[in-house]
Amino acid sequence: MSFPIVRHRRLRQSAAIRSLVRETVLTVDDLIQPIFITYGSGVKSEIASMPGVYQFSLDTLEEELKEIVDLGIKAVLLFGIPETKDAIGTSAFVQDGIVQQATRKIKSLYPDLLVVADTCLCEFTDHGHCGMVHTFEQGGHVYGDVLNDESLELLTRTAVSQAQAGADIIAPSNMMDGFVQAIRHGLDEAGFPHIPIMSYSVKYASAFYGPFREAADSAPQFGDRKTYQMDPANVREALREAESDVLEGADMLMVKPSLAFMDVIRLLREEFDLPIVAYNVSGEYSMVKAAALQGWINEQAIVTEMLLGMKRAGADMIITYYSKDMARWLRESK
Ligand code: PBG
Repeated sequence: MSFPIVRHRRLRQSAAIRSLVRETVLTVDDLIQPIFITYGSGVKSEIASMPGVYQFSLDTLEEELKEIVDLGIKAVLLFGIPETKDAIGTSAFVQDGIVQQATRKIKSLYPDLLVVADTCLCEFTDHGHCGMVHTFEQGGHVYGDVLNDESLELLTRTAVSQAQAGADIIAPSNMMDGFVQAIRHGLDEAGFPHIPIMSYSVKYASAFYGPFREAADSAPQFGDRKTYQMDPANVREALREAESDVLEGADMLMVKPSLAFMDVIRLLREEFDLPIVAYNVSGEYSMVKAAALQGWINEQAIVTEMLLGMKRAGADMIITYYSKDMARWLRESK
C-alpha cells in the first residue's frame, strides 16, 4: 500500500481544479467605496496619511463617480467636511449640508448607485465628538462627557435629512445607546420605513481610525472616544451590542475595524443571520499603502488576501478604500 493515501495536493494541482474547489469568492458586488466630500470648489486634495485617497468638492466629484460606476461598484459611503462647525453639529442635519448636497448630486447623476450615509456628528462638531457634550474645566484641563439621549435627537434629525436628500441606506456610526431605535422611529415617522439601517454595531475605540480623522477633520479636541466606542479587549460585549441593535431594528450589522477583529466578524456571522459588514478602516489602508509604496510587498496580492480573509471570516460586504483598485484587479484577472 502506498503512503500517504490522503493527498491534499490532488485538489491543488492546477488553476482549474483550484477554482472548482474554492470556498470563498470576492466580487465587485461585495465592495463599498467611501468618499470624503468637502466644501468649496475645485478641490481634489490628497490625504497625506492615505495616498490615493482624496477629499472632493461637489464639482470635482463627478469624475470620481464616473470612475466608480464604470468599475461596476454599486455603493458609496459618504463622509462630509462642512464649512462651519458648532457645538451641536448643526451642519450635519441642515437641508443644504455637504452630505445632503452630495447625495442629491449623486442620485441625479447615477440613480442606481447606492448612497450610504454615515450618520454621526464628529465631522460637524467643533469639539470633534460624536454627540453633544457637557464640558467642564478642572485644573486647567477640559473634561467632557458625551450626552447620550440628547445626542439621539440630533442624530435622528441627521438621518432623516440624509434620507430626505435621497440616501438609500443610513449607517449610524456614533455608538450612542439606543441609536438604532431612535433613528428607526425617526425614519418611519418621516415617511422612510423602507430605508435600511446599516448599524456600526460593534465599533471599537481604535487607533486604526487615525488617518480617517485627518481625512474627515474629526479628531476629538479633548478626551477620547472610549466612553462610547468599545474596548478592543472585549468580545462578549460585542454580542450584547449586536443583540440590542437587532432588537432595535437594524438591517445589517457592522464590525469595525476588520483586520484585528476577524474573530468578531466570525462570531457575529455565527450568532446572527443578518448581513454582516466589515469595515476595512483608514489605518489598515495606510499600513498596506505605505509598505506598497516602499516596494516591500505586492499590493494587489496583499489586498486581495486581506479582503478575501474578511469574507472567509463571514462578512457579506466590505467597506474599503481599496474598492476601486480591487474592482480593477478583479476585472483584469478575468
Ligand atoms: C465617525 C466615523 C469614524 C470612522 C467612520 N465613521 C471615525 C471615528 O469614529 O473616530 C472611521 C473610518 C476609518 O478609519 O476609515 N464616527
